[in-house]
Amino acid sequence: MAAITYEHIKTCKQSGARLGKVHTPHGTFETPIFMPVGTLATVKTMSPEELLQVGSQIILSNTYHLWLRPGSDIIKEAGGLHKFMNWDHPILTDSGGFQVFSLSDMRKIEEEGVHFRHHLNGSKLFLSPEKAMDIQHDLGSDIMMSFDECPPFPAEYDYVKQSIERTTRWAHRGLEHHIKSGHDKHQALFGIVQGGEYEALRTQSAKELVAMDFSGYSIGGLSVGEPKDIMYRMLEHTTPLLPFHKPRYLMGVGSPDALIEGVIRGIDMFDCVLPTRIARNGTTMTSNGRVVVKKEQYARDFTPLDESCDCYTCKNYTKAYLRHLIKTDEILGLRLTSIHNLYFLLKLMENVRQAIREDRLLDFKEEFFEQYGLNVE
Ligand code: GUN
Ligand code: ZN
Repeated sequence: MAAITYEHIKTCKQSGARLGKVHTPHGTFETPIFMPVGTLATVKTMSPEELLQVGSQIILSNTYHLWLRPGSDIIKEAGGLHKFMNWDHPILTDSGGFQVFSLSDMRKIEEEGVHFRHHLNGSKLFLSPEKAMDIQHDLGSDIMMSFDECPPFPAEYDYVKQSIERTTRWAHRGLEHHIKSGHDKHQALFGIVQGGEYEALRTQSAKELVAMDFSGYSIGGLSVGEPKDIMYRMLEHTTPLLPFHKPRYLMGVGSPDALIEGVIRGIDMFDCVLPTRIARNGTTMTSNGRVVVKKEQYARDFTPLDESCDCYTCKNYTKAYLRHLIKTDEILGLRLTSIHNLYFLLKLMENVRQAIREDRLLDFKEEFFEQYGLNVE
C-alpha cells in the first residue's frame, strides 16, 4: 500500500485545472492547496490551533534547519515532528538540497553529496541523498523530498545538464535507500524535476524521474529570480510529462498570481514563506491588493485591513491598531498580520477549488485580479 494516494475529483472544463484530494497517514488535504511554511517546526508566531483556524490542511518543514537545530535525533526521540510540534495533520518536508545551496557558504558538490558550512556557526557539514532520507525518516513527515540541486538563474545549459543528471542519480540513490529502510509504507517520497529555463532539460529530468515511480513530483528551480513568463512556460512544458494520478508540487511559489497561473497549468501543491514573511514586516495581502499597514496613512484608519475578510484579525482589529503594534514591535502585531495573510491565501485557494468545481476558473481569475490589481506579487 502506498503511503499516500491522489484522488482526482475533476478537471475544470474552462481552464484544465485539477481538483483532487491527497490521502496521507495524517489525514486528507484538498488540492490545489497552499502549504504554510514552518521551517523550524513552527509556522512563525502561529499555534497549531490558529493554523487550523486560518484553514491550513498541510504544512511544510525543513530537513536542513531541523537537522541543525534541535537535531533530528531529538525530534525522533520526541516521537516525530507531528508530536514534537503538536500538529496531527499532514506534514511535508523539504530535503535540505535547496537550503544548502541558498544558505551556506563554501559548499562543494561531489557525486557523493555536498560539503558545506553551518550557516550560523561555520562548522563543517555533509549532506547526501541517503542522509537526507535518514533525517526525514527521523522527522516522520508524510511527504518527503528527494535531495536535489537547485541551480541558480541564470545558469548555462551545460551546467544545468550535468546538474540534472546528478540530481537524477541522487534521486535514485535516495529512493533505493528509502525503500530499503521500510519507511516507504508510511512516508511518501517525491522526485524533484529540475532543468532551469531549458525545455529539453525539463523533459529529460521529468522522464528520468517518472521512470523511477515516485509517489509524486515536485517542480523545482523556479521562482529563483527568473521572469514569470519563463516560469509559466516551464510549467506548461513540464506538467503534461507527469503522471496524471500523482500530485504535482510547485516549490517556493506563493504570490496570488503565480498560484492561480500554476493551478491553470496543472499544479496541485504550493508553498512559500511570502505570506508569513511579509506579514512580519507589516505588509498584508487583501482583496484590493497589498496593504503596507505600518504606513503613516493608516495611523487614524479605524477600519479593518480587508472589509471582505472573515479572519480573526479583520473581525476584531483596525488598521490603526495593527500599525501601532507593528511600529512598536509588539509581538501581537506580527501574529495578527500572519493570521490575516495565511487566511487570505488559504481562502483564495478554497475559492480556486470552488471555481474548478464550477468550471469557471478563468472567469474567477479575471474577477480576482480586477479587484486585486495587477501590481501583483
Ligand atoms: N524550494 C524552492 N525551490 C526548490 C528546489 O528547487 N528544490 C528544493 N529541494 N526545494 C526548493
Ligand atoms: Zn483578514
